[in-house]
Amino acid sequence: MYLNNPIALTQILIIIRTNKNNGDQMNGPWVEKYRPRSLDEIVGQDHIVKRLKRYVKEGSMPNLMFSGPAGVGKTTAALALAKTILGEYWRQNFLELNASDARGIDTVRTNIKNFCRLKPVGAPFRIIFLDEVDNMTKDAQHALRREMEMYTKTASFILSCNYSSKIIDPIQSRCAIFRFTSIKGEGIIKRLETVAEAEKIDLDKNAIESIVYFAEGDLRKAINILQSSASTSAQITEENVYEVVSKARPKDVRIMINKALDGDFLGARDLLREIMVTQGTSGEDMITQIYQEVSRMAFEESIQKNDYIKLIESIGEYDYRIREGANPRIQLEALLTKFLSKAKAE
Ligand SMILES: Nc1ncnc2c1ncn2[C@@H]1O[C@H](COP(=O)(O)OP(=O)(O)OP(=O)(O)O)[C@@H](O)[C@H]1O
Ligand SMILES: [Mg+2]
Repeated sequence: MYLNNPIALTQILIIIRTNKNNGDQMNGPWVEKYRPRSLDEIVGQDHIVKRLKRYVKEGSMPNLMFSGPAGVGKTTAALALAKTILGEYWRQNFLELNASDARGIDTVRTNIKNFCRLKPVGAPFRIIFLDEVDNMTKDAQHALRREMEMYTKTASFILSCNYSSKIIDPIQSRCAIFRFTSIKGEGIIKRLETVAEAEKIDLDKNAIESIVYFAEGDLRKAINILQSSASTSAQITEENVYEVVSKARPKDVRIMINKALDGDFLGARDLLREIMVTQGTSGEDMITQIYQEVSRMAFEESIQKNDYIKLIESIGEYDYRIREGANPRIQLEALLTKFLSKAKAE
């Protein structure tokens, strides 16, 4: 019946399309929705952005290598650079590949070959962005190096990795290396405020501080925590944040450590159990938080330097045991005993 009625059919299509758009915006991940479109929007990484802008001005670029921790803007910078430097036809001239593709280096090479066989369209050259190059085997990296040499005239490569030390020297020496760093608190706050404003969310100061604490310099993680916290309320408090991260409150960890330092082992142990049960904190997260808190206490000089050194040694050992599969509860309780003989600094 609708098919015979063009007006009704158009209306149905309009409704479907409107719903789809609304759905995309409401449910889509904010990390993608708020991925900076231009180099100027990237927070932190100022030196890098400055150098990349120089390539834009010159209209050409060498092969680049972006290394650094997760969620700090490597893929974002590659996309923004490609869009700016290639202009209107960037899509046709940009190829994004995951270098550690499960199907192997041969697929990667075939893709590169097919892409480079044709001349660039409407742009002076093409850009191939290869993610996770550090997960490639050495042999695959050598194959990639040959590929890079073959297409130097028509394509530039941007390689992305977490650790540049895992990349073979011949590739490193063919690239200008850019070392991305973790995003500082102020950068994360700036971006969170931009997102919160656009999403009409109220974020109180403590909520922002706890997101920064849990994000550990990873902006992707920060935005994800913000989005999950916002799913229950448009006014986000510290409590909403704790509900979604399943980590311990830093102040509870501090109280637990202080109890142990005061010689109250049973009190510290009970608190440890309570935190792990109520917050659902994992053994790995718990020991990382103990490490963060002990480091903070040493920085504030509320524990003595010698004791700090010994504690770090123990934390390192117990962290290893937990990661190797030992029972986290037992290991953490055993770790607490190491605090007993240490005195708090006056
Ligand atoms: N420096 C930044 N400025 C603004 N937003 C950022 C920045 N870094 C990360 N983001 C946000 O986090 C998301 C993920 O960042 P991106 O994909 O660039 O991380 P990455 O460094 O490539 O991480 P990975 O090593 O995991 O691939 C982006 O979509 C964006 O929303
Ligand atoms: Mg990436």
